[in-house]
Amino acid sequence: MAEASTAGKGLQGVVVADSSTSLVDGENGRLIYEGYKIEDLAEHAQFEEIVYLLWNHRLPNGQELEQLRAAIAEAAALPQAVVDQLKIYPTNANPMAVLRTAVSLLALYDPEAEDMSMDAVRRKAVRLTGQITTICAAWDRIRKGHMPIAPRKDLMLAQNFVYMLDGKEPDKTASDAINTYMVLLAEHGMNASTFTSRVITATGADFYSAIVGAIGALKGPSHGGANAEAMQQFVEIGDPAHVEAWFTREIRGKDRRIMGIGHRIYKALDPRAAILKEKARQLAHVSGNEKWFQIAERLDNLARSEEYFIQRKLYANVDYYSAIVLYTLNLDIDMFPPLFAMARIAGWAAHVIEGMGGRLIRPDVTYTGPMDLKWTPLSER
Ligand code: ACO
Repeated sequence: MAEASTAGKGLQGVVVADSSTSLVDGENGRLIYEGYKIEDLAEHAQFEEIVYLLWNHRLPNGQELEQLRAAIAEAAALPQAVVDQLKIYPTNANPMAVLRTAVSLLALYDPEAEDMSMDAVRRKAVRLTGQITTICAAWDRIRKGHMPIAPRKDLMLAQNFVYMLDGKEPDKTASDAINTYMVLLAEHGMNASTFTSRVITATGADFYSAIVGAIGALKGPSHGGANAEAMQQFVEIGDPAHVEAWFTREIRGKDRRIMGIGHRIYKALDPRAAILKEKARQLAHVSGNEKWFQIAERLDNLARSEEYFIQRKLYANVDYYSAIVLYTLNLDIDMFPPLFAMARIAGWAAHVIEGMGGRLIRPDVTYTGPMDLKWTPLSER
């Protein structure tokens, strides 16, 4: 008898690894990194503290944090050959494609690229954590015709990102918001990009291959590409007064999805969305431009009042309000997914470290093709 088809289930509910990095409790809307509630981390932690926590399973003391901060800042500079390459990429290239290519290129200039020892992997993780941020800022400048700005050695990573965008002393409101964003996006269980990095790691392939694969998975609109798509949809709506009409025309009874809503695991409010909503509200208020936040909130409330969304337990996910946060900070919409990668490198690296030496991940497939066909020579076909 044929086995029940698993097609279309997208591995839902399948457990593929043991991990201490994070607990995503979808029924209760809870997220925990290594034992700590995301709400506490978002309020108090620097991104580097989260990196340390995820890679060492405990919080750092002051000296350990400073050592890691300095190592990341020191390593964040790009090899000149990579900067030169960025300068010749087409300026209209998708920033995620640029990031994916540049990270792959970095491997060619890293003497430790093929060193699979745990110490070397940890050193590469430190380097790439800094360098992904630098690539993001550098590309944002290069494609606009400006020279990239080298990272400073005295800054935290979120501050360095803000600094590298325009070379000015980093604005506290902006760097605090980027830091909170990065803390919230650093890690999230067995999401698609992390799973990709685990699969690649389990083949014994190198750290760069795992991260390049993860960036590729993150690029998709069902995953990290959703923050940009969410913002595009808010821009398309254009005015809080148009939300209801847009919803009726585009969503109600249609195939189109609201981007930034729905989640495979969360069947309650994504706790990151709740935090980012408040952050977005504050930033909108401070900036004096509340329109985008109002559009997002109105659409969210409308969806939550619809039977369709209630029945399916569809809530705003992390990409929904983070889009407003990033837009209010004047970042280009197509840079949103690379910013996600800037944060998620922490979780990807944690999972590579955790998964190294593990058994090959090789699931099975239900064969649905024909059997016993007779070979016909080319001349008879
Ligand atoms: N708008 C409208 N309907 C939706 C939405 C949405 N955003 N999301 C899911 N649904 C509906 C589906 O049409 C489906 O309805 P049906 O049962 O009548 O067929 C039902 O809800 C379940 O949806 P699935 O696609 O089966 O759920 P899945 O777990 O596979 O997908 C996903 C989750 C991809 C996140 C989905 O909710 C979606 O496409 N959301 C929009 C894109 C998005 O925001 N992605 C970011 C996710 S978070 C992250 O990766 C950082």
